[in-house]
Amino acid sequence: MATLKETLLAKIQEHRPRTQKLVKEHANVKIGEVTIGQAIGGARGVRMLVTDISYLDPFEGIRFRGKTIPETFAALPKVPGSDYPYVEAFWWFLLTGEVPTEQQTLEVVKDFQSRRAVPAYVGDMLRAMARDTHPMTMFSAAILSMQREALFVKRYNEGMKKDEHWEPTYEDSTNLLAKLPSVAAMIYRLKYKDDKQIPADPKLDFGGNFAHQMGFPKPYDDVARMYFILHSDHESGNVSAHTTHLVASALSDVYYALSAGINGLAGPLHGLANQEVLRWIMKFQEKLGGKESTEENVKQALWDTLKAGQVIPGYGHAVLRKTDPRYIAQMEFCQKNLPNDPLFKLVNMIYKVAPGVLTEHGKTKNPWPNVDAQSGVIQWYYGLKEWDFYTVLFGVGRAIGVLTNTTWDRALGYAIERPKSVTTKMLEDVASQAIKADDLGAD
Ligand SMILES: CC(C)(COP(=O)(O)OP(=O)(O)OC[C@H]1O[C@@H](n2cnc3c(N)ncnc32)[C@H](O)[C@@H]1OP(=O)(O)O)[C@@H](O)C(=O)NCCC(=O)NCCS
Repeated sequence: MATLKETLLAKIQEHRPRTQKLVKEHANVKIGEVTIGQAIGGARGVRMLVTDISYLDPFEGIRFRGKTIPETFAALPKVPGSDYPYVEAFWWFLLTGEVPTEQQTLEVVKDFQSRRAVPAYVGDMLRAMARDTHPMTMFSAAILSMQREALFVKRYNEGMKKDEHWEPTYEDSTNLLAKLPSVAAMIYRLKYKDDKQIPADPKLDFGGNFAHQMGFPKPYDDVARMYFILHSDHESGNVSAHTTHLVASALSDVYYALSAGINGLAGPLHGLANQEVLRWIMKFQEKLGGKESTEENVKQALWDTLKAGQVIPGYGHAVLRKTDPRYIAQMEFCQKNLPNDPLFKLVNMIYKVAPGVLTEHGKTKNPWPNVDAQSGVIQWYYGLKEWDFYTVLFGVGRAIGVLTNTTWDRALGYAIERPKSVTTKMLEDVASQAIKADDLGAD
């Protein structure tokens, strides 16, 4: 039976000639143009990244390796007695594009278990930090503190050839990913449970052990698996994925790169929106002071937020132009497992009202909910009420996608990233030339 690493190598060898041919024979073929609006407006829609791990269609939403979310969940081997697949099977799938067998999956589960132990110095460092430090800061620092483990650095210093770069990157990625659930759980218990840590269970899988170390009973293991898979990848241009890719393009190892990506995820316009959603809801309920929520008072609260110049967290998206299928996947989970939960009902009511309000407001290009609008409700229901921890969960999931991407970046020898900047004066000159050309055209 081929191991994950052997299967990955075969895929890399199969893929390399495609990239080499494109670079050698078609490097000058245009795939887009850049406007002034895009240069100033966050490069929205500029085609300048390549990834085969996932693709985001504005109307359909994400596909992982060509599969929609329901297709992905249906295809991968599941943990016995669970509704959701092994995260380890998903790791194989993202890395190779192939669905692993049960046996292959169990080999990866074993491999992850053998790499799971978190070095003692990580706990020492976390305990030395101020206890009110945000959990995302702790998470990023914990990842960075393990940089001394990087095999890539060791091999690079020994003179490794470029076409071998993927190999220690794969090893570092697996080592790091296998530790992340335990690191996250350690931060959670340190901050919110008087540092009463729960040792890892050597028999459990990625999601199962996370639930165990967090201290949450079933079905939280399935919640964790679903959550990590849903948050894994959203093609390459989002802040956390792009940051990881950018930093790794300097051949910084994955500890440096992922820590940087996690810092980007900590922004309120990106991953932190899931904690903001819960905060918004709690503030709204507090204001109601025990009164029942109605479509009318939800609408009023949404307008109050907009009029205060704030964004409605969990709504809008830079690429998507319809309800995020990751929102729908979580909504379906709620319909099945917590249909009568008052918070879920309120989130549904917001879903009914907010798109209309945002459309009337007239600014956002996408009035529909994204992944963050629904995720906190599930965590809250299962007892994880400390919402400033929610983005750490996102971070564990996002690591799966960005580490896969980094491994492939190295396999295909992608260059150090270095786009060109221009000055405002240059843009003004280009703009006035365009006006002159337009005027001439009108004559
Ligand atoms: C995700 C997000 C950052 C995308 O930004 P974007 O690509 O610039 O979005 P748009 O092009 O639609 O933005 C156009 C305008 O609509 C506003 N807008 C977008 N989403 C909005 C929202 N949810 N509430 C209020 N205003 C919003 C933008 O702030 C922008 O206003 P401006 O012209 O005054 O700067 C944005 O929709 C947002 O801030 N959403 C809330 C935070 C969130 O849920 N983030 C998680 C994303 S997965």
